[in-house]
Amino acid sequence: MSPTKNKFEQLCHIFKEVTHLRSVRRLLNWDQETYMPQKGQTNRAEQNATLSRLIHKQVASKKTGQLIEELFAVVEPKNPDNDMYVCLRQWRRDFNRQKKLPTKLVEELSRQAVLAHEAWVKARERSDFSVFLPLFKSLVHLSRQKAKCLGFSKSPYDALLDEYEQGATAYELDKLFSRLVPPLKTLTQKVFDKSRGLAKEFSGPFPISGQKTMAQIAIVKIGFDMTAGRIDTVVHPFSTKIGPGDCRITTRWNIQDFTEGFFGILHEAGHGIYSQNLPTKWYGTPLGESVSLGVHESQSRFWENIVGRSRAFWSHFLPIAKGIFPGSLCMLDLDKFVRVINKVEPSYIRVEADEVTYNLHIYLRFVIEKELIEGKLQPEDVPDRWNRLFKELLGLEVPKDSMGCLQDVHWSGGSFGYFPTYTLGNIYAAMIREALTKEIPEIETMISAGEFQPIFNWLRDKIHIHGQRFSPTDLIRHATGKKPSSEPLIHYLETKFSQLFG
Ligand code: CO
Repeated sequence: MSPTKNKFEQLCHIFKEVTHLRSVRRLLNWDQETYMPQKGQTNRAEQNATLSRLIHKQVASKKTGQLIEELFAVVEPKNPDNDMYVCLRQWRRDFNRQKKLPTKLVEELSRQAVLAHEAWVKARERSDFSVFLPLFKSLVHLSRQKAKCLGFSKSPYDALLDEYEQGATAYELDKLFSRLVPPLKTLTQKVFDKSRGLAKEFSGPFPISGQKTMAQIAIVKIGFDMTAGRIDTVVHPFSTKIGPGDCRITTRWNIQDFTEGFFGILHEAGHGIYSQNLPTKWYGTPLGESVSLGVHESQSRFWENIVGRSRAFWSHFLPIAKGIFPGSLCMLDLDKFVRVINKVEPSYIRVEADEVTYNLHIYLRFVIEKELIEGKLQPEDVPDRWNRLFKELLGLEVPKDSMGCLQDVHWSGGSFGYFPTYTLGNIYAAMIREALTKEIPEIETMISAGEFQPIFNWLRDKIHIHGQRFSPTDLIRHATGKKPSSEPLIHYLETKFSQLFG
């Protein structure tokens, strides 16, 4: 074996172990959200801290850094077709980030995140921000320290963003939102006026077993492999890739409204399909990992909204739903139903928001967390700041914090910089739609016939199989032929909603 090959093998071995440790941490996280008893939190916090320390030690070790630099000196640079170069580029990024962080800080963040999660659950139940505040303060403080250690050129928030979306900056996001928010506010008002009187013309109960059957039929049809994944019930739905052949998705069910759980599952299955189609032969290296949260979210939002909330989709699925729930749905009219599931209305809860108002919810969170990390907003002032911004953007008074700043899980996990990836996901999804429609013009007819294979193949070949070969924006550029921009999203929303509501 050549010395280069040998060193590369050594690095592969190191990062295979790191990948295993990270996957174990995700499994514990999944368990915490699904089955762990409440009193297990203290032990789980320690387990988490231990794993984070081990990962940090392994990635930031002198040996890892040395191997990476030695190989970088001999590898053909900047060629994304060169597998070794891609792995080294991404490993160096991982190494540089970890190396700048003191072990103590990594451990402490990991521990506090578990404890804060439990405090947040209680605070949210009682709608009492003060229950969450001490741990929230500590997480903001630790995250600001983290940003300082990592370094940044303009905003400390950039250092945190980069973890979820490589290369994203507050400056670029500000620009993006400034082009997106005004047309969305206008569109919200217009469509809200038109869809105001629209009533749900179906009512439950929809037995959970039937809902599960229906969701499973749908996700298997779009390409989720049930022999390599499972569905569990949680309070806050998510999906997680444990490793090849093991992808967990979760949802919550509403007995009165089958669409809630259904769209939730469709969303998480979109994430799951991406995870399941990453190249297994590269597992343990960056080529076997998803490229960013923004691209991940583009996959889930594409299936949930662009496909799942289309008329074509329901012309195929409504008859199936009627077969499962004959009593409750037999009289349901396709056109009315499609309008109901696309109703636009300013509302409090992000995860229940329609496609038009959704990104306004994200913009609000982006503003607040940027201000927190930049030290311009104090943690105790978040409820007030939230409520004022909410009124400005969505025109509603927030009646209590559980419907306001306590609704999301992210900050309790110390995930600052995560939220903007949702809007990036929507932007990418609309770009994907545009490109896909150009390449496969008969796409709607296919969806109406329940034929999803061509879409699945397109996404697999253009997005999934590339792992981290390209940067997120380059991957989108390769797949769609265009630089990321918010125009396709605005165009998609304006066209869709003017067709639906006139
Ligand atoms: Co998602």
